[in-house]
Amino acid sequence: MEEVVKAGGLVKEFNGFRAVDGVSFSIRRGELFSLLGPNGAGKTTTIKMLSTLLTPTSGDAYVEGYSVTREPGKVRRVIGLVPQDLTADDEMTGWDNVYIQARLYGLSRGEAQARAREVLELMGLWDAARRRVGTYSGGMRRRLEIAMSLVHEPSVLFLDEPTLGLDVQSRRGLWRVVEELKRRGVTILLTTHYMEEAEALSDRVAIMHRGRIVEVGSPEELKARVRGETIYVEPLDPGELERVKNILEENGLEAHVIEGRVALRVERADTVLPQVASALQGVRVKSMSIAKPSLEEVFIQLTGETLSGEEHVDPFSFRRMIRSVRR
Ligand SMILES: Nc1ncnc2c1ncn2[C@@H]1O[C@H](COP(=O)(O)OP(=O)(O)OP(=O)(O)O)[C@@H](O)[C@H]1O
Ligand SMILES: [Mg+2]
Repeated sequence: MEEVVKAGGLVKEFNGFRAVDGVSFSIRRGELFSLLGPNGAGKTTTIKMLSTLLTPTSGDAYVEGYSVTREPGKVRRVIGLVPQDLTADDEMTGWDNVYIQARLYGLSRGEAQARAREVLELMGLWDAARRRVGTYSGGMRRRLEIAMSLVHEPSVLFLDEPTLGLDVQSRRGLWRVVEELKRRGVTILLTTHYMEEAEALSDRVAIMHRGRIVEVGSPEELKARVRGETIYVEPLDPGELERVKNILEENGLEAHVIEGRVALRVERADTVLPQVASALQGVRVKSMSIAKPSLEEVFIQLTGETLSGEEHVDPFSFRRMIRSVRR
């Protein structure tokens, strides 16, 4: 299948700090590919290199066959970018923002008007087109930014955290918009730190952590790599985390402390729960829950962190955990 985006060994250093540390992947025509990772993983830096806003320290990427380092002008003609930091002008109407964008891309007045209407309608903003952007909701603003990114009919669209800060309902509305673009054949690279979003929209997901891609696959493939289930035990007193872990280990279970809870990897939770409950009779437990395989679980198993959190498990138990997953 044709590869529309191809990144090879992309590195970006800021004063010696490697924000992106050798990232390679490719995206097929019509595919929706997500970079999933927590704050600071290097998602925006990767998108900025692919959209020619940042020059890679080393490595290169090709979009529609054009090199981002050697043919940035050609790359810009074929891509649309919705940056994480929004760019629409609050004081102007939605219409003006889109129309001006179209003119900047060299469309004639007539073409720009026709195209502006088309993309505003596509984004469900036609009725609001004459309103100042300052009066738009967060979801409408995002859709306006997408409309602006589409005026020159790009074949590849980069969406950097398109639903960041949106409420659940607006987020779903945006997902429908993205799905419509995909149906129209646009190749889409999306970044997110919401695993439900990556799971709902993506053909394939690259899990990013500290400047590297640690795993790539369809949501189903990634989840299939997580064998079994996880039981989480949260003691009422956080001071008892280690004690809970030790008790469970004495019972022959594999336990790890992750962000205020003890995680137990098991084949099937329902068969182990009675044993866990009786082992913990002397402990006041605040909550106990079972997690089925999800992208969040994949991320935790690969990195020892949650997608939102920053805490680290101790590196030795972490390695053991990885081994137990890979086995
Ligand atoms: N211009 C810059 N100068 C110095 N450091 C930078 C610069 N841009 C990004 N970084 C650092 O590079 C790392 C990756 O940042 P980046 O914005 O790519 O992450 P991200 O995955 O997009 O995170 P977020 O989810 O917060 O948007 C971070 O540690 C960030 O502080
Ligand atoms: Mg970012």
